Amino acid sequence: MIDTLERLQTEGLAQLERVADPEALPEWYRDYLGRKGRLTDALRGLGKLSPEERPRAGQKGNEVKQALEAAFEARQTRLRERALEASLAAEPLDVSLPGRPLGGGHLHLTTRMLRHVREIFAEMGFQVYEAPEVETDELNFGLLNIPPYHPARDMWDTFWVNDRVVLRTHTSPGQIRCMREHHPHPIRVILPGKCYRYEQITPRSEHQFFQVEGLAVGHGIRMTDLIGTIGQFLRKMHGESRRMRIRGSYFPFTEPSIEVDMDCILCLGKGCRVCKHTGWLEVAGAGMVHPVVLANGGYDPAEWSGFAFGMGVERPVMLHHGIEDIRHFYANDLRFLRQF
Ligand code: FA5
Repeated sequence: MIDTLERLQTEGLAQLERVADPEALPEWYRDYLGRKGRLTDALRGLGKLSPEERPRAGQKGNEVKQALEAAFEARQTRLRERALEASLAAEPLDVSLPGRPLGGGHLHLTTRMLRHVREIFAEMGFQVYEAPEVETDELNFGLLNIPPYHPARDMWDTFWVNDRVVLRTHTSPGQIRCMREHHPHPIRVILPGKCYRYEQITPRSEHQFFQVEGLAVGHGIRMTDLIGTIGQFLRKMHGESRRMRIRGSYFPFTEPSIEVDMDCILCLGKGCRVCKHTGWLEVAGAGMVHPVVLANGGYDPAEWSGFAFGMGVERPVMLHHGIEDIRHFYANDLRFLRQF
């Protein structure tokens, strides 16, 4: 057995030396070291040896295997080097040629917008509160005073993970999380993040989009604080001469509720296709935090008051850059992304 193994090693090494083509190497490997190769074949005889002979033969088998494997690796490296040398000799390399420039990446349009929004609110003393994108039905709807029969709970509007868990349809559930974490202290935060809605995808509506929520809770907070804050933000974001318009509205989690518009940044209020000839663009839904929501967050509405707002991110970016279709944002088409 030992003799057979030694012969196998000598023969294998000699054969390997004769392999000159890297393509032929796997064949040698299969032949000697493969599952059905000669070494495996030879080691099959181990079982027939006497218990005294077996350990020595087994050890020899291992030595032969290691020797063949090491020689194979070395041969493979050598042949690769040779191939490289040959190709360098055949096609000389001009190392003095300038390298190919690496394409520099940059931040996504939405990320830049979100960073800008954070900066502006940071100057006004707002901290950032992060809340999860996968949310319970209770936080996304129930605790925000959205009753079970409300159309927003409809399967057409919501991606359900199971009967109790949804992909959040807005950033508002973060209000409850934030209040529960911070009560009984005053709050001034923004909650930026991705939202999801199971809805018809159109040039203006995606099934995933970003919102920035704002929440302030304190003593004696009033509607004028809300309007002042949003006005300041709009002027910082879109220019000092921005005008805004407040309309009455309805959200289950704010009372009273308002809708904030600003004069159209494209036609400056004269009326164009983008503002549907009204001169105004919708900016945010907002209002005073509903007493029920304050209580759900752990604040006594008799003592505390607060305001909240929620605005989309992609739609204002579209206006700024004249992007006609929201689907471009997350389609990962570099031709689109490189433009900004
Ligand atoms: C809300 O989601 C409320 N939670 C906002 C709010 C917060 C009101 C706090 C009061 C207090 P609404 O469904 O209108 O509201 O969405 C707010 C903004 O999100 C919209 O104005 C729009 O800019 C953006 N948005 C909503 N759906 C889509 C969509 N499918 N694609 C892109 N943007 C969207």
